Amino acid sequence: MATTGNDISLAKHFLLKGDLVAIPTETVYGLAANAFNEKAVLSIFEVKNRPAFDPLIIHTDALEKVKDFVTEIPPQAMELAKAFWPGPLTLLLTKKNNIPDLVTSGLDQVAVRIPNHALTLELLSQLDFPLAAPSANPFGYISPTEAAHVNAQLGDKIPYILDGGLCGVGIESTIIGFIDDVPTVFRLGGLSVDEIERVVGKVNIMKHSSSNPQAPGMLKSHYAPRKPFFIKTKSEIESAGSGVAALLFDKKTANGAVKYQRILSPAGNLNEAARNLFAYLRELDLLDIEEIWAEKAPETGLGLAINDRLKRAAAH
Ligand code: TXA
Ligand code: MG
Repeated sequence: MATTGNDISLAKHFLLKGDLVAIPTETVYGLAANAFNEKAVLSIFEVKNRPAFDPLIIHTDALEKVKDFVTEIPPQAMELAKAFWPGPLTLLLTKKNNIPDLVTSGLDQVAVRIPNHALTLELLSQLDFPLAAPSANPFGYISPTEAAHVNAQLGDKIPYILDGGLCGVGIESTIIGFIDDVPTVFRLGGLSVDEIERVVGKVNIMKHSSSNPQAPGMLKSHYAPRKPFFIKTKSEIESAGSGVAALLFDKKTANGAVKYQRILSPAGNLNEAARNLFAYLRELDLLDIEEIWAEKAPETGLGLAINDRLKRAAAH
């Protein structure tokens, strides 16, 4: 098991040596390394068992520091950065040469964000390099929203987990790139499309692909539990058998055969539902049941990102 604690100087000690440290963010926990150190970045891919074609996100604590490793911040990107950083927004920007090609899987653009978590912002402010950090889960599995999730799966492979408590947003950042100057959603996430459109106007939303080299984050099968997972309607869940555990949006099913049920938000609140999503999926995945059936969230606000994760979990 990794050591877990809130000791920023210990986290810094390992990162300076080129070791990996799990860090808290408002979205999910990240598996962090010095982004300028190619060898350290390589070990992220090894520890996660992540394919080299799936690029990483760079984390920093200040807009001025972003200019150290991207060639420019175009006006629309700057507006979004000013409106939403620190926060659950990742921007695709053209990289400088100090970002190893390994970080971007050979693409010209690097994914960048300033996360909104006090402990991690303090850590970043004390470093003279940014942190490359994908979500701290084995490739393809559910993302971690608390330190114990990281420890359960990667604890024997990393020296330290910086424990910042539960992730407040609970779902990965929204990734925005610019295609012919049109803001384009590469991955739905913790910042809703409505909020983004309020700042830059209408955006495009990229369709999923299992083989789009431009957007490896759009890989269809992702965020998946180990148990067979299906999206079902409420009425299908009402007639489910006893081998089924259910993930419901706001209300329990009266079906007595379904012993295990988790309700994402009894109040029907999409932020609360996003915050609970990954932890509940993990809990259901560990039960002695045969299948997990999930009901979709309403298709609005963060419901889009929640349903995106459910669809990908069901895409095996
Ligand atoms: O909220 C988050 O974004 C979390 C926390 C830790 O910050 N990180 C995260 O990283 O979700 P990860 O590695 O699980 O997902 C990163 C995704 C990749 O799958 C990839 O699709 C996309 O970001 N990405 C990174 N660089 C890209 C690039 N240059 N072009 C297109 N997509 C890129
Ligand atoms: Mg991930």
